[in-house]
Amino acid sequence: MEIDLLPAVSVEREVDALVIPVRPGPQLDPTGTEVDARLDGALSAALRDADFSGKVGKTMVIPTLGRLPVRRVVVTGIGDGASTANDLRRAWAIAARAARDAGARSVVSAAPPTGDLGEERAYRAAVEGVRLGLYEFLEYRTLDRPEKRVERFHIAGESDAARRGLAAGEAVASAVSLARDLVNQPADALYPERLAAIAQETASAAGLECVVHDPAALQDLGAGAILAVGKGSVRGPRLIHLTYRPRGTSRGTIGLVGKAITFDTGGVNLKPTGSGLEHMKSDMAGGAAVLATMTALAALDIPFTVHGVIAAAENMLSGSAFRPGDVLRAMNGKTIEVISTDAEGRLVLADALTYTARQGAEVLIDLATLTGAAVVALGRQGTALYGTDQALVDDLVAATDLSGEKLWPMPLWDEYRELIRGDVADLKNSGGRAGGSITAALFLREFTEGKPWAHLDIAGPAWADKVTDYAGKGGTGHGVSTLLAFLERRATQG
Ligand code: BES
Ligand code: MN
Ligand code: ZN
Repeated sequence: MEIDLLPAVSVEREVDALVIPVRPGPQLDPTGTEVDARLDGALSAALRDADFSGKVGKTMVIPTLGRLPVRRVVVTGIGDGASTANDLRRAWAIAARAARDAGARSVVSAAPPTGDLGEERAYRAAVEGVRLGLYEFLEYRTLDRPEKRVERFHIAGESDAARRGLAAGEAVASAVSLARDLVNQPADALYPERLAAIAQETASAAGLECVVHDPAALQDLGAGAILAVGKGSVRGPRLIHLTYRPRGTSRGTIGLVGKAITFDTGGVNLKPTGSGLEHMKSDMAGGAAVLATMTALAALDIPFTVHGVIAAAENMLSGSAFRPGDVLRAMNGKTIEVISTDAEGRLVLADALTYTARQGAEVLIDLATLTGAAVVALGRQGTALYGTDQALVDDLVAATDLSGEKLWPMPLWDEYRELIRGDVADLKNSGGRAGGSITAALFLREFTEGKPWAHLDIAGPAWADKVTDYAGKGGTGHGVSTLLAFLERRATQG
């Protein structure tokens, strides 16, 4: 599908669907008013008859029955007052879906309302909505393949701001789509070595450097924690390191770290049936988000050096698997007593965080589907956010104004540190059920080399069981758009 800008929308254009924003009332925008006049008031009458609320999340398809070259009008609610980026993303996502489901191949959309958001952000949000709303993962489907497809999506607009919004929206949406694709791939097709190969290909297409550390290299690095997690699988672990360098002078160095357990069986502490094992191919969503984010940095002109480090391993159960009671030595020399082989994410991240800190990163941010406890605390949509630096935490939360993702600050209480103190080693890898997301974060902090660090536990939002306005079932690509918005915000600050 192609998305482009049109200098002006005309109701005289032959097109399968025309998207029009509507506020409660119903209150039409200028394009809507023009269409309504041409239909002798039939559009506003249809909205009133149907009691169309104009709230975000509501759409309605109204056929023009040959009275206009436009075949149907798709109205989409944008609510009262100032629309947020997320309102517009949702409104355009469901409008694009409604147009597609009605069989439209060519769509024209009126301009998104600008309001306080500014033109660039409004267009960006609408474009992200269209792309992400229409996202589908069809690689393995041979039966009932959906035949309806939007081929061209034109949006009214011609300003430079609209053009910049379109370009940014495309960059963000294709990054989020890449993360979704990776998460949706079954673990048999996407294992550490394959993820590394994809990272290499992606890096060369995006102009990034990429270095992959295989098990022999990890041995040399002293990465005993990631090696232990990967031991039980015939598919060995990889530490994948991508580097983005800005065009101009770099204004600082940021490290993004992702957990990429390509499948989490739990290991010897095997996950039981009914515990969501069939979704554990998604345990690499943090790594997928990091890889995806790296691909959009150049398009958004991020002025920082960014290291993207992905800790990839498969947590399997076999004769060579690591066991409870084993003592591991992480890259930073700290020893870890394994309490549960199912607390593997913090182990692979331990080495990845140390590695990234030692690359010269001044700030570390990791993303991980780390704990079921985070899901219990914040539900399926919330990300548990931890950090050792208040400004960093605040900036990540502020970035959600644009991304629309839900981040919630959580405490790193020092009093809980004793829960992960080891008996025979320095640390143990589980502090038990109570406060499980907090003790996991405290464990990670031990490997951050004292750098300002934030941790996003995305165990809830990385995977969706239900269709939402701009994501289907499966991988959501969660985290990508917040990371990008965060980097853009930092770029505009002194
Ligand atoms: N990958 C899981 C966490 C997870 C759970 C992600 C549900 C997505 C949905 C992680 O490796 C894990 O198994 N964590 C354990 C830790 C425990 C053994 C300390 C958990 O949360 O139960
Ligand atoms: Mn696990
Ligand atoms: Zn896991």
